Amino acid sequence: MRLDRFLAETTDLTRSLAKKAMQRGEVRVNGEIVKQPATHLDPTDRVHWNDELLELVGLRYVMLHKPAGVECTSRRGLYPRAIDLIDLPKAERLQPVGRLDVDTTGLVLLTDDGQWAHRITSPRKRCGKVYRARLAEPLAHPDDAVVIFHEGILLEGEEKPTLPAELDVLSPTEVALTLYEGRYHQVKRMFAALGNAVVDLQRVAIGPLALDDLAEGEWRTLTDAEVEAFR
Ligand code: URA
Repeated sequence: MRLDRFLAETTDLTRSLAKKAMQRGEVRVNGEIVKQPATHLDPTDRVHWNDELLELVGLRYVMLHKPAGVECTSRRGLYPRAIDLIDLPKAERLQPVGRLDVDTTGLVLLTDDGQWAHRITSPRKRCGKVYRARLAEPLAHPDDAVVIFHEGILLEGEEKPTLPAELDVLSPTEVALTLYEGRYHQVKRMFAALGNAVVDLQRVAIGPLALDDLAEGEWRTLTDAEVEAFR
């Protein structure tokens, strides 16, 4: 890998700022100041920027129990971002794999592996996401609701009905819903289409991965087996 690219991957510097840092003599390879951005690095070379030893981070896979009041976005805004809760170097490189609304809690995956993320979000891959919802009103006709969710609902402003979804009625006001796609506010809009409203929403599982015992706000990296389970 070229030295300027290595610096851009391992620090907050862009490639052009990396070149300037080199010109200022801030970058050393195996102890020697190097000023040529095109310098080729071998895997055993040790690169320092000022006093910091730089190391490439590999692809990373994280699960987070998102609390309410946290946004799944990379831009800074009104609320703290999911990545702000992840105490890893360069956490801002992680992307949420499918978003939850700011008031929705539960399982969020984050990664810098775009292909892996695509396996989880693409409706073609049929990776189920399970939501637990509490409803404002008791479901009037639970058996009909199961059929309607399975057949698909044409949401306001959309051209295609939702894909078949599995509704489990746990009590008159509590349901588990498995979706294989992720449209904007999908769970809330599906219940709104039935004349009901979601008052509390949590994502409890994504494919083979359940929220398990992570407390709200906690995160951990996935094991290799968990990462592979999505491939
Ligand atoms: N559906 C919603 O309405 N909100 C979410 O956060 C996720 C799914």
